[in-house]
Amino acid sequence: MAEVRFKLNGKDVVIDVDAKERLVDTLRKRFHLTGTKLTCGSGDCGACTVLFNGKAIRSCTCLTCMCDGQEVVTIEGVMPMNGGKLHPMQQAFMETGAIQCGYCTPGMILTGIALLNENPDPTLDEIKVALAGNLCRCTGYWKIFDAIQLCAKRMKEAKAE
Ligand code: FES
Ligand code: FES
Repeated sequence: MAEVRFKLNGKDVVIDVDAKERLVDTLRKRFHLTGTKLTCGSGDCGACTVLFNGKAIRSCTCLTCMCDGQEVVTIEGVMPMNGGKLHPMQQAFMETGAIQCGYCTPGMILTGIALLNENPDPTLDEIKVALAGNLCRCTGYWKIFDAIQLCAKRMKEAKAE
């Protein structure tokens, strides 16, 4: 067992973990953050995506002990960390109808946020590449691309004001 200290959704947490414990299990079982989905468990579907120091990672392929001293954000942390309001990415997903069953949505939103952190004005092709590891069985993807483009436009406009 090892002690791991990290920031989770803006709060400092300390836990004892086995070296083999996966981040997805820590989040779901210990912190009940079930917006982080566990599906393939092998890094292929993106349903378990979280932000790790602002970048999108698969929490099923990340060991919790690797989080020591780092910052993790799950979908549950996005709104509280945005002053209690919906993040513009969440708003854009709702407005464009980019959500159907919602299973992939946390991972899609977090991947979209990570993309705009690095590239505030992505092309459609860059959005497609960023989302290549996030699978959706419902939407056909186009509304998700629309949502990310809408969010990028609004964030650019807000910055220009
Ligand atoms: S559950 Fe992690 S990528 Fe599918
Ligand atoms: S909305 Fe159902 S899997 Fe994407």
